[in-house]
Amino acid sequence: MVRNIVLTGFMGTGKSSVGKELSTIRNIGFIDTDEEITKQFGSINELFENHGEEYFRQCEREIIIQVAKSAEVVIATGGGAVMDPDNIKVLEGSGEIFCLTANPEEVVHRLTSSGEVGVRPLLDVEDPYDAISKLLATREDIYKQFVEFDTVGKSPSEIAHEINDFLNARN
Ligand code: S3P
Repeated sequence: MVRNIVLTGFMGTGKSSVGKELSTIRNIGFIDTDEEITKQFGSINELFENHGEEYFRQCEREIIIQVAKSAEVVIATGGGAVMDPDNIKVLEGSGEIFCLTANPEEVVHRLTSSGEVGVRPLLDVEDPYDAISKLLATREDIYKQFVEFDTVGKSPSEIAHEINDFLNARN
C-alpha cells in the first residue's frame, strides 16, 4: 500500500490549499478531514455550538480512523487533530505527517482578511490574536515533532512543490 501524505499545522497555515496542490502535483487523491466531518456529522460550527468541543473531537477521531484506511492520498487534517496521540498513531500508521507553520501575526492576518475567524469556533472570540497566540503556544511542542514547512511569504503551490521535492529527494 502506498503511504499517504498527511498535513497538519495550525488553523490558517493553508493545509487544505497546499494539500490540493500537492495531490495535483503527485496525481493522487485528496481528503480534507474537516470536510468529511461536515459531510457525515454536520457543520463544524454547529457541532461545537450544539454539542461542545469534546463531541467534535469524537467525530474527528472517527473520521481519522476512516480516512487512514485510504491509500495514496493527501490528507489535510484539522489543526487540532494531532493534539490527540491516538490520532497521531492512526495517521502515522497510514502515512507520514508534515506540519505547515506560520507565526501568529500571519495566521491572524490570513484568517481576518479572508473573514475566516468566524467560521472557526475556537477563534470566534473577542480577541482572536490573543486566542491564536495562546493556543499556538500550547500546541507548538506537538507540531514540532513533525517535519515542518514554513508557509510565510509563499503560495500554496510553492509550498506543495517544496514538500514534493522533499519527498522525491528521499526516494
Ligand atoms: C481546529 C481547526 C479547524 C477545525 C476546528 C478545530 C483546531 O480546522 O478542525 O475548527 O482545533 O485547530 P483548520 O485547521 O482546517 O482550520
